[in-house]
Amino acid sequence: MTVLITGGAGFIGQHLAARLSERGVAVTALDTLDEQVHSDPEASKRRFPGEVVVADVADPASFAHFDDAGITAVVHLAAETGTSQSMYEQEHYRRVNVGGTVNAVEAAHRWGVPIVALSSRAVYGEGDPVKATTEDTPHRPLSVYGETKSEGETAAIEALRGEVPLTIIRPQNVIGPGQALHNPYTGVLSAFLAKLKAHEPLTVYGTGEQTRDFVHVKDLAALIDWALFTPIADESNVRILNCGSGVRITLNDLARFAVAASPDGPVEITHIEVKRAGDIDHALADITRLKELGAPVPQWQPADAVRDFIQASWNDEGADPSVWDKALDELAERGLLEGDK
Ligand SMILES: NC(=O)c1ccc[n+]([C@@H]2O[C@H](COP(=O)([O-])OP(=O)(O)OC[C@H]3O[C@@H](n4cnc5c(N)ncnc54)[C@H](O)[C@@H]3O)[C@@H](O)[C@H]2O)c1
Repeated sequence: MTVLITGGAGFIGQHLAARLSERGVAVTALDTLDEQVHSDPEASKRRFPGEVVVADVADPASFAHFDDAGITAVVHLAAETGTSQSMYEQEHYRRVNVGGTVNAVEAAHRWGVPIVALSSRAVYGEGDPVKATTEDTPHRPLSVYGETKSEGETAAIEALRGEVPLTIIRPQNVIGPGQALHNPYTGVLSAFLAKLKAHEPLTVYGTGEQTRDFVHVKDLAALIDWALFTPIADESNVRILNCGSGVRITLNDLARFAVAASPDGPVEITHIEVKRAGDIDHALADITRLKELGAPVPQWQPADAVRDFIQASWNDEGADPSVWDKALDELAERGLLEGDK
């Protein structure tokens, strides 16, 4: 039993690989070790509990490399993940996120093995301020990232025609130890961490009353593990699952949880009236389907997940807080920022 994890050297991939290998499942990664994600690519490679083949998912030949490797299942995680960055690197995002997904499902089809592919809640676009979003909600992505995830889902279903089991998981905001600390295009919490370590005020974009659903990475890894080894009951051979904590918190709550978790004492929370292109106001997963299918439900509450991230990452080398300011300047120059910095 060997699971091929595309993007396996990244945040979610490392947690999943550790979990699988702890219980004797062999893992192999296919990953470009992208510099925007990996400040020390060799360290990421060493941390992965199996072979890391450095190759691009957008190139079909990368999968041909594994044709005789006895792969028994595929988890497709490799993607470009920056919502605002996707608005100006559209072609590249399409090539990696849609093209890469097609290549991954075609490989799974050729090998006759199940595939679990990570999509995103970004396919839904704006969420409802009150109701949670179910898996049947129509796709209305607001970012090119969300569009590529939506197109990737459709392409995967069409390419497989139900001939091998396909699970599509749409995570909300995933947090936990090991998330990229340097990538200014993802992860508000990494920005908060950098500010807390510099003992500077946390900067919240907008009023901070926007809502999100933060899920701990270990809860997502448990769900992927379940999906890999639990047959799909539906005759379509396709299973689509939300993944979130099912708990709504505001960005102001998030900032308060981060401050409360800081080993270095409190800092102020400030607001700037900006909105980045592609950003949404509200998000919350309806996780009824997970419960109905007997899938593992989230174990972590948001405040505990935030504390786990801040405290586990405190001594890791992070980015200077100015990288987030520079990313905002870059968006402003490209006309992708509403409001004044
Ligand atoms: N982290 C979240 O909050 C979140 C939320 C929803 C969906 N997702 C999805 O989960 C998946 C994994 O995300 P993550 O948070 O672990 O991100 P990550 O950036 O930490 O990991 C992605 C990995 O893919 C690799 N990669 C990038 N382009 C590649 C390419 N062309 N070929 C091969 N490898 C490539 C990177 O080097 C990295 O190791 C992605 O598909 C992402 O869209 C993540």
